[in-house]
Amino acid sequence: MAQQVKAVVARAKGAPVEVTTIVVPDPGPGEAVVRIQACGVCHTDLHYREGGINDEFPFLLGHEAAGIVETVGEGVTEVAPGDFVVLNWRAVCGQCRSCQRGRPQYCFNTHNAEQKMTLLDGTELSPALGIGAFAEKTLVAAGQCTKVDPAADPAVAGLLGCGVMAGIGAAINTGNVGRGDSVAVIGCGGVGGAAVLGSRLAGAGKIIAVDIDDRKLATARKLGATHTVNSTATDAVEAIRELTGGNGADVVVEAVGRPETYKQAFYARDLAGTVVLVGVPTPEMQLELPLLDVFGRGGALKSSWYGDCLPSRDFPMLIDLYLQGRLDLGAFVSETIELDAVEQAFERMHHGDVLRSVVVL
Ligand code: APR
Ligand code: ZN
Ligand code: ZN
Repeated sequence: MAQQVKAVVARAKGAPVEVTTIVVPDPGPGEAVVRIQACGVCHTDLHYREGGINDEFPFLLGHEAAGIVETVGEGVTEVAPGDFVVLNWRAVCGQCRSCQRGRPQYCFNTHNAEQKMTLLDGTELSPALGIGAFAEKTLVAAGQCTKVDPAADPAVAGLLGCGVMAGIGAAINTGNVGRGDSVAVIGCGGVGGAAVLGSRLAGAGKIIAVDIDDRKLATARKLGATHTVNSTATDAVEAIRELTGGNGADVVVEAVGRPETYKQAFYARDLAGTVVLVGVPTPEMQLELPLLDVFGRGGALKSSWYGDCLPSRDFPMLIDLYLQGRLDLGAFVSETIELDAVEQAFERMHHGDVLRSVVVL
């Protein structure tokens, strides 16, 4: 039977979000209903509320979540009721041309639940990134549920569902950071901080954190940065070159999503080095670079979508490392809050006061 649960909904562009009752249908074929235990507050939720993603209001916000599978629909074999799962926003299809070539991490046809969750009056909701997890329960495609070790704290595990995975993956999957590499990370919020952590995990020799906020640089140190640069006071490119013997870093991760910081990343990398863009630009942004420099400096200019992760491969592995004390995922949880405090959390995020606020249910 369909259930009524409390959830955070954005009804109109720019309007404060509200906690209201929504209707969650029973899972259909290939779907699962998940009882949410924790869900992080991400910039993307705020972008939805501000109408920056599309106009399909009302949105059911929240997408960095962990919880327990409650019920599954027909034909679901990958998860069962009682499983502890992290939700992902890229359930791979197994059939598109990328999956067929053995590259499911780039799947071009990821999917979500077919049925719609609604408001009490029947208005269909648009779940953020096909998840919608600022809710006591949500409906997703079963492939969006990735089983991980239930010993993990849900508030920590859920963050792997988006920003933290994006950052770690930008370094280890997209950037291919390896032992002894020099890495620079420009922008050390939740995503960039995770890129620092991922670089340390991968054995980088030098990890240079760049930000305009000293608080973020202090956190980056704790996550493994060996050097920090405040780019309001110092030229980021020169500082990174100086710290790398005049050469530039092997890998530079851009975790802001702006043309200026992309240019810094481009010129702060060594010849034949790699730039990874994981920060998300807005539609009006343009990049201008001398084509001769693009050619002449060689190497790779890559973008990283969701850290090029394969949830079924990466989530359980990272949770295991966290449980072994080898990966400080707990550092990203700045505070835990109640469901009705998402609006205030947006405010703190906007002011750069937190890496992540996490709603705990
Ligand atoms: N130079 C260096 N750092 C900057 C600059 C700049 N010009 N402008 C902003 N920053 C820093 C901020 O101080 C902050 O620490 O970048 C960081 C951005 O972090 P958050 O706001 O916490 O955002 P985060 O969740 O890390 O996401 C970063 O990735 O997923 C995308 O949409 C997201 O584009 C955003 C990016
Ligand atoms: Zn596919
Ligand atoms: Zn997110």
